Amino acid sequence: MNILILGSGGREHAFTLKLSESTKINQLFVAPGNAGTAKIATNININPTDFKSVKEVVLEQKIDMVVVGPEAPLVAGVHDFFLADQQLKNIPVIGPKKDGALLEGSKDFSKQFMCKHGIPTAKYQSFTNNNLEDGFAFLETLSAPYVLKADGLAAGKGVLILNSLDEAKAELKEMVSNKKFGEASTTVVIEEFLKGIELSVFVLTDGKNYKILPSAKDYKRIGEGDTGLNTGGMGAISPVPFADKSFLNKVEELVVKPTITGLQKDGIDYRGFIFIGLMNDNGNPSVVEYNVRMGDPETEVVLPRIESDLYDLFDGVANQNLNEKSFSVTNKTATTVMLVSGGYPEAYKKAKEITGIEKVQESTVFHAGTTLKDNQVVTNGGRVMAITSFGNTIKEALEISYTSIDKIHFDKMNFRKDIGFDLV
Ligand code: AMP
Ligand code: GLY
Repeated sequence: MNILILGSGGREHAFTLKLSESTKINQLFVAPGNAGTAKIATNININPTDFKSVKEVVLEQKIDMVVVGPEAPLVAGVHDFFLADQQLKNIPVIGPKKDGALLEGSKDFSKQFMCKHGIPTAKYQSFTNNNLEDGFAFLETLSAPYVLKADGLAAGKGVLILNSLDEAKAELKEMVSNKKFGEASTTVVIEEFLKGIELSVFVLTDGKNYKILPSAKDYKRIGEGDTGLNTGGMGAISPVPFADKSFLNKVEELVVKPTITGLQKDGIDYRGFIFIGLMNDNGNPSVVEYNVRMGDPETEVVLPRIESDLYDLFDGVANQNLNEKSFSVTNKTATTVMLVSGGYPEAYKKAKEITGIEKVQESTVFHAGTTLKDNQVVTNGGRVMAITSFGNTIKEALEISYTSIDKIHFDKMNFRKDIGFDLV
């Protein structure tokens, strides 16, 4: 089997490494990939949303399956593009079509979906510039903090949580009338604030059957103690100690099953990952959001814990016999700590030389924003690499990650020294 993975982050390096362990894989290609994927696969420098180039690669390299990492190609319809093309239609794509990708591509759609199928989520209403006054009135029925969400994709920046009513009204106007987030905020979802502690549950589905993958908790803020600006994620832990058996049973019964059957009832043939962002409020799950892909850096702790052959699971997704595939997970805890460029998530410099990676023995180094320059690994993004370790406890795994990090260096390297602080 020849597989093409679309994307360039730590998530895609983790997919590549896991698939490289399968005996059924012949060649692995990553587009565009990074310096880490270059070591274990062939990188191809194309943009994953340039479907014409993706097609050329698939035909040239005799690709048998495409695994889509990020949401953008899914929301833009890469799976639909394959199904509509005579030469590509029999090549399975792991990732939903446009209709399913709307679960992430439109907050309004995903809220409608949850309400229609009785899935627990915060009370909400959606507004545009045409009913702005109704939006103000709805805000008045809620209490602080106020949650405003741009309907469309806004690079992870489209959610505002505001403490005063006046501020919330002003921001709503900015979003719908002055296009604060461009077209993405033409429609805005206003919802009730959910209390509790967040975690993510990941599901792989073939449209009929599903497997619940390990759960994870990520740390989104740049600063220690969960302070400062939001990032793509500064670290993650799996499993999540407070997601015990009883909580996960509730998640399966109240969220996962109705999501899978809801997709079927709505005629959405969904083949891929569903990332369910959840709030745990005193043992009761409520859905914060769906994503139609794996999380990053959550993938860097979720995939290493899966003992089964990942290709085999993808084969089950492609052939709708996921129920026949064996699936096992290690009980060990995995932690990952993200090394980022100084300045991130605001402006930062690229092309900094990275040294010491080869000295790391006890952890897995997943590359994210890295590239090769004259055979030297250099930084090429804000989130540079994720350092994943195993332990019997969170503390044990983290100690190994931090010892490994001591060996790695690049100019203005930054990372959070308190990943898991709220759990240990
Ligand atoms: P989203 O993009 O919908 O996941 O929102 C981004 C982040 O905002 C989430 O990870 C939560 O931390 C927070 N958030 C979103 N919606 C709510 C809500 N209704 N109540 C509390 N926090 C929320
Ligand atoms: N780490 C959060 C995400 O992948 O959306």
